[in-house]
Amino acid sequence: MSTDSLVSEYFSTGTLAGLPSGHFIDGAFVTASGGRTIETFDPGAARAFHAFAAGDCADVDRAVAAARTAQKTWGRTRGNLRGAVLMRAAALLRAEAQRFAVVESLDSGKALQEAEGDVQGAARCLEYYAGAADKIEGSSFPLGTDYVGFSVDEPVGVTAHIIPWNYPLSTAARSFAPALAAGCTVVAKPAEQTPLTALMLADLLFRAGLPAGVLNVVTGTGAEAGGPLVAHPDIRHVTFTGSVQTGVRVMQAAAAHVASVVLELGGKSPVIVMADADMDAAVEGILGAIYENAGQICSAGSRLVVERSVHAQLVDRLARRAGALRIGHGLRRPQLGPLNSAAHLDKVAGYVDAARQRGLTISAGGERTVDPDGGAGWFFQPTIIDTVSADDPVVQEEIFGPVLSVQVVDDEEEAVAIANGTNFGLVAGIYTRDFGRAHRMAREIEAGQVYINEYFAGGIEVPFGGSKQSGFGREKGLQALKSYTRIKSVTARIG
Ligand code: NAI
Ligand code: MG
Repeated sequence: MSTDSLVSEYFSTGTLAGLPSGHFIDGAFVTASGGRTIETFDPGAARAFHAFAAGDCADVDRAVAAARTAQKTWGRTRGNLRGAVLMRAAALLRAEAQRFAVVESLDSGKALQEAEGDVQGAARCLEYYAGAADKIEGSSFPLGTDYVGFSVDEPVGVTAHIIPWNYPLSTAARSFAPALAAGCTVVAKPAEQTPLTALMLADLLFRAGLPAGVLNVVTGTGAEAGGPLVAHPDIRHVTFTGSVQTGVRVMQAAAAHVASVVLELGGKSPVIVMADADMDAAVEGILGAIYENAGQICSAGSRLVVERSVHAQLVDRLARRAGALRIGHGLRRPQLGPLNSAAHLDKVAGYVDAARQRGLTISAGGERTVDPDGGAGWFFQPTIIDTVSADDPVVQEEIFGPVLSVQVVDDEEEAVAIANGTNFGLVAGIYTRDFGRAHRMAREIEAGQVYINEYFAGGIEVPFGGSKQSGFGREKGLQALKSYTRIKSVTARIG
């Protein structure tokens, strides 16, 4: 079905036909063992449009058991055959891209054109790891002529994947694909705000030839479904994306049964603009860094760190551009969509209200708003808070909304110190025309990824993950495969 007919179906009926509502376990959609459901909301209209299974321990047990059984054969399936399934899934996803994008936009609130980009990115991710599945090689050890020594990268086994609501499909694809390529099985728990596209992706992978039980999705809340999943003794590895607070709990739960973890916990990433930068590029980069997905991005550039001589001019340009962004329901292809939930809108608005009460200058936005066509929804204006001190909460804490804090510096050294001055260390952006300076700063910055002269430059090929409280472990790139394999060394005496 075309995008236009899906969009008009939603606006005329208030939902879409054929949305998944059960868990996906052992190759089929099943209802929750407790029979309960939860509603999922359209953030652009602040209304529920669908109900899905509220899972608990019993559903998690069922999914993990299915994965454990499937592990016996999937882990021994030759890499090229695993890759072929992922490659077919990528083609299917591109063929069904319109439906995936509309559902992703509706469930998360994000602008439809951004959801379309996420779907293509997810397909690209499946292709990337499809190509890697038959290239996972061990090495040999030089033990002299009397011995043979070599290593095998074996799949770790059943893995748990806890998915957040800001990039529901992208985050699912980027952790499912390397796990499956490496020969692991998966039990995933999408966020309760956005369960639909992970379920659709599981079904799509099954239709692409993934054997039953290899990939399972249990929906429900973090407490009722996520907690039992990460605590399950048969889970060998957990990949988690979300808040620091929940990440710590997940690591503790995994520690109890000695499972490895990858934690991707967000950030407070700086965009440094030096006076010699290409200002047009900097303006475009900053707008994307903080207003894409309404700022609900772990790697959002939420702090502008700007050299004093260009500060006033840059903030003025940004404020004018921010004020002109077209706000609207995700399916109307706005430049700025809603926040994902009423609770999250309250959190974002609370930060800005408190900043205003502390006497900080709000140079753009600063207020809640609604979809101008529908008159409802959980929107917040694109906001800039100008010249904020290094210890202020809007500089130190992740707001996860369209709120940019501005910090002014006098030179390169101070820019690096300010950039490093939070507990986070996910990514950083640098805008300067001075090649040597760019690389000196990249060397000094505490972050898992540094973008020079284009914020978000990169792709699935580039490892992604944090330092400090942004977490550890790497997703994307060939590095991601390391989370899903363990080296077995085999040594033999032959002399
Ligand atoms: P959260 O970290 O609680 O939720 C993320 C995922 O973890 C969801 O699937 C949730 O159901 C699950 N979860 C919650 N409790 C769990 C538990 N005990 N065991 C296992 N899984 C559990 O984050 P929340 O409450 O949705 O958002 C709070 C803040 O976290 C946001 O305002 C934002 O600052 C940050 N966040 C960062 C993300 C990132 O991309 N790094 C993504 C989502 C949120
Ligand atoms: Mg939703």
